[in-house]
Amino acid sequence: MLTFKQIKADDVINIRHTVLKEGQPIEVCHFEGDLDEGTKHFGAFLNNELIGAVTMMFKKTNNYKVYPVYRLTGLSILPEHQHKNIGKRLLHFAEENISRKGSVMIWCFARDYAVNFYKKNGYRLNVQQVVIPYIGSHRIMFKFVAKED
Ligand SMILES: CC(C)(COP(=O)(O)OP(=O)(O)OC[C@H]1O[C@@H](n2cnc3c(N)ncnc32)[C@H](O)[C@@H]1OP(=O)(O)O)[C@@H](O)C(=O)NCCC(=O)NCCS
Repeated sequence: MLTFKQIKADDVINIRHTVLKEGQPIEVCHFEGDLDEGTKHFGAFLNNELIGAVTMMFKKTNNYKVYPVYRLTGLSILPEHQHKNIGKRLLHFAEENISRKGSVMIWCFARDYAVNFYKKNGYRLNVQQVVIPYIGSHRIMFKFVAKED
């Protein structure tokens, strides 16, 4: 059975390593902000085994009255479970969780080959290209998750 739930920062490290950072030291799988108060990690479980993860990092600002802004990062589904809509469902679960109290803005650096996945999930493309060292070309994408406020 497939289930989704919030998980701890430590739980996402191995899956990031396998899916996003294979062959690199495990230390690179700890992202800045992982342990921040506003950061939430979510996992997809198949029969209680973690097969996918995503992280939403809340950026606090006291300067402007704006919708809460989250950075989506570390979205990873184990290769043998990709293309089965699990990424889509995990992302939706995370979006619903962070927008429980009202509308939110979400942005991410999308690897070029993941751009279509994000587009299909309602993310819009910002044309700016960002080349992240050792990982490659990314595009900034964003989504406004509208809720009754
Ligand atoms: C991108 C990723 C999270 C999508 O999760 P998923 O469960 O495989 O995706 P879903 O089944 O929900 O959606 C399928 C759609 O995603 C895209 N997609 C999924 N895997 C893909 C891959 N390996 N390469 C390119 N596009 C892919 C396609 O657009 C696909 O649509 P299609 O089936 O009509 O071709 C997953 O493939 C993954 O972990 N990839 C490696 C890590 C990664 O790139 N993460 C994103 C970092 S920005």
